[in-house]
Amino acid sequence: MNESIPQLQSYDDAALEQAFSALAAEVRDGAAKLSSAEAQEQFRLDWLGRKQGRLKLVSDAWLKTAPPEARKPLGIRFNQLKQQIEEALSGGNGSTSATATSGALDLTLPGTRRSIGVEHPLVRTTNQIVSVFKAMGYSLAVGPEVETDYYNFESLNFPPNHPARDTQDTLVLASQESKPLRERLLMRTHTSPVQIRTMEQQAPPLRIVIPGKVYRNEAEDATHLARFQQVEGLCVDTNITFSDLKGTLDHAMKALFGSSVKTRFFPSFFPFTEPSADMQISCIFCGGKGCRKCKHSGWIELLGCGMVDPTVFGFVAEKQPAYDPKKISGFAFGMGVERIAMMQYGVSSVGNFYSADMRFLEQFA
Ligand code: DAH
Repeated sequence: MNESIPQLQSYDDAALEQAFSALAAEVRDGAAKLSSAEAQEQFRLDWLGRKQGRLKLVSDAWLKTAPPEARKPLGIRFNQLKQQIEEALSGGNGSTSATATSGALDLTLPGTRRSIGVEHPLVRTTNQIVSVFKAMGYSLAVGPEVETDYYNFESLNFPPNHPARDTQDTLVLASQESKPLRERLLMRTHTSPVQIRTMEQQAPPLRIVIPGKVYRNEAEDATHLARFQQVEGLCVDTNITFSDLKGTLDHAMKALFGSSVKTRFFPSFFPFTEPSADMQISCIFCGGKGCRKCKHSGWIELLGCGMVDPTVFGFVAEKQPAYDPKKISGFAFGMGVERIAMMQYGVSSVGNFYSADMRFLEQFA
């Protein structure tokens, strides 16, 4: 590696200047190419190696044989060259690559990249659902997550002690026993209470979409959590019929999942709707042919819906008489956000959404 050191032609200033600046240029060029710790070590050996280092060869070839009067200027230049080599090794000569390996501060190095945050997948899915209904003229409504028994159950036609309450086992707040039942606080089990709260505030016609967190006393598994999210909808006006419900939801599903998606409705039961239905969509994975995801039925159950039960309007009319069940009608629906997001993104365990595991979340960036 080491080239031999040329013979010095003379010891005058010009000759020394030329000889040493050639070496200094070599030091600079070599230092600029140092991109690894190994390269840096090799550079050090090439120049400062005790036996074969170029500095040692320079000393042997030039210094030791120099006439006494030339020793001083030679020595000065020799020391300068040595200093340049040492500076190159410690990053002091401005060489970026040498600096990178030695850890000194170099403002020309690229900075630490900070990743820009993105919407959480559940927020994104919620916003998608909400915007589909907004485009149909629905307004956004929200309500409290700590709710009274009246709004969560009674006004939605779950009478006290009625078995329908068993389908939504609640997490109740402590020390509520001294209050009358309808005032007792609990974590809401669905977003439906916001239907009542909004109707009490606003006379019909009404079209609202209600996103929010809900809570249940659930054993958690791959598809169930004790805290999850829903999007609810309510439309009230004169002459609202079941075909309005079907048309609205069919359009919404096509907007969300693509225009080839089909919907179908099965009789079901919810205390606050009559008739009630479960809506299914044609399987978005197999197009309805049947696959593992749809349990070979070609259909996936997605939400609950129905015509608002006149009893519910009766509760609202205590505060807002315009909700006279003889004059108005309406439909409502409710869906789980996690379930839809799991389908959209092919997530098999709902817990992933809440794990705060960057390896999972980064996939949505
Ligand atoms: N609240 C129901 C639940 O959490 C979902 C639901 C069903 C909401 C039918 C509705 C509806 O508005 O009409 O299970």
